[in-house]
Amino acid sequence: MKLRNDFLWGGAISANQTEGSYLVDGKGLSNFDMLPMNDKRLKDVMLDEPNIFNEENQHYPSHTGIDFYHSYKEDIALLAEMGIKCFRFSISWPRIFPNGDDAQPNEMGLAFYDAVLVELEKYQIEPMITISHFDIPMQLVNKYGGWSNRKVVTYYLNYAETLMNRYRHQVKYWVPFNEMNMVMHIPFIGGGLAFSKDENKLQRKYQAAHHQLLANALTIEAGKKINPDFKFGCMLAAGKTYPYTCKPEDVFAALESDKHNLFFSDVQVYGKYPNYIDYYFAKNDIQIDTNLEDFEVLKNHTVDYVSFSYYSSACTAASVEGLEKTKTNGFETVKNPHLPPSNSVWQVDPIGLRITMNQLYDRYHLPLFIVENGLGTPDHQDSTNRVNDDYRISYLADHIKNMIQAVEEDGVELLGYLTWGCIDLVSVSEGKISKRYGFIYVDSDDKGNGSNKRYKKDSYYWYQKVIESNGKVL
Ligand code: BG6
Repeated sequence: MKLRNDFLWGGAISANQTEGSYLVDGKGLSNFDMLPMNDKRLKDVMLDEPNIFNEENQHYPSHTGIDFYHSYKEDIALLAEMGIKCFRFSISWPRIFPNGDDAQPNEMGLAFYDAVLVELEKYQIEPMITISHFDIPMQLVNKYGGWSNRKVVTYYLNYAETLMNRYRHQVKYWVPFNEMNMVMHIPFIGGGLAFSKDENKLQRKYQAAHHQLLANALTIEAGKKINPDFKFGCMLAAGKTYPYTCKPEDVFAALESDKHNLFFSDVQVYGKYPNYIDYYFAKNDIQIDTNLEDFEVLKNHTVDYVSFSYYSSACTAASVEGLEKTKTNGFETVKNPHLPPSNSVWQVDPIGLRITMNQLYDRYHLPLFIVENGLGTPDHQDSTNRVNDDYRISYLADHIKNMIQAVEEDGVELLGYLTWGCIDLVSVSEGKISKRYGFIYVDSDDKGNGSNKRYKKDSYYWYQKVIESNGKVL
């Protein structure tokens, strides 16, 4: 198999990490707008305890982002000049429904995305819309407790239908939720969940997950009625977990870890809960509220393709005590002694992408779509404003090489490859723009000071050639 001629090379961003203008033109507050730039962003939010919301004199990076709200024309023009074929972006839910439960959508919010789509069409760039990328109107968090409340499913569906009706002719690729599995790790960001002291957190998280899975299936059901040609993808934060050794106990621990991560894509692809989950729920005293009809909905409305993000692999063992730890993108994992040292936050593992692609394709037999991959690291502009980011080029080249091998030597079906943060944006885990991913440099510091001017990095010219040659020149 060869890489398709219509292979969708491109890039991806999210609303809350780029747009800024957080209360402009009728937009309401989102959960993400509540997060200051500090190292507690990923911690659980506890009700009745001092938490990240109560800290003073903080900078809130989503409030300004990279000002994509005003610079989208220039940004899309730059991306078009680089040659991208596909652009994934998310719509800010509270820009459309400022409180989440409003009767009517906010026309000014919709007008912004109308304009973004006009620009994309102008350059014949295929849009991919993420309906919810780590955002939920704060009002739905305050009033209903976020995604663990079933009412949120109805509000979300209303929002999703509003978008799908409006963009029925412009948009084919939809991702209802970004990285749904993240609700287990960052429940406030992934599900708008804040906990009270003695509650069973796992239960709340799985309740929220059930509602998101249901909302996902209902969105597919509604979407296919609006336009049968719509294509829906699940979005999984992927990355194979390796066993630390070949001891059966370690292999089993890695299998377990993968199983729990893949729970979310399993349900979205197979349309049913896997068998093991009942045992897991019983063991952890989890009882979630479901209706019988929910399972019919899940069964009948599954995804068309498997989209996922890949930053690195992970590693685990039956007993992790005493083993050296490191970070994946934001989370702790056992350090893999077989991966070379890297200057990145996480261990770099390009072959891990090929392994992950094989794992997902063998499990699901659906076309894959890599919708996030990239290297987040500080860049430096020299006195001529040049950014020499060879480290990014080599990270991406190694990953693309493995991606092509997965297609051409392993027979994996792949629709496209989108790099994360094709233009610098604010990081989720750190809230800093200095963790840069882009081909385009944004002149802003971590506090949002700077001209916000855009500059092409060396990687910009490199990716241009990659796209032009359909991956032959790396
Ligand atoms: C993915 C998210 O998990 O990782 C993105 O979908 C995020 O929103 C990306 O930005 C990189 O992580 P970080 O923490 O460096 O922004």
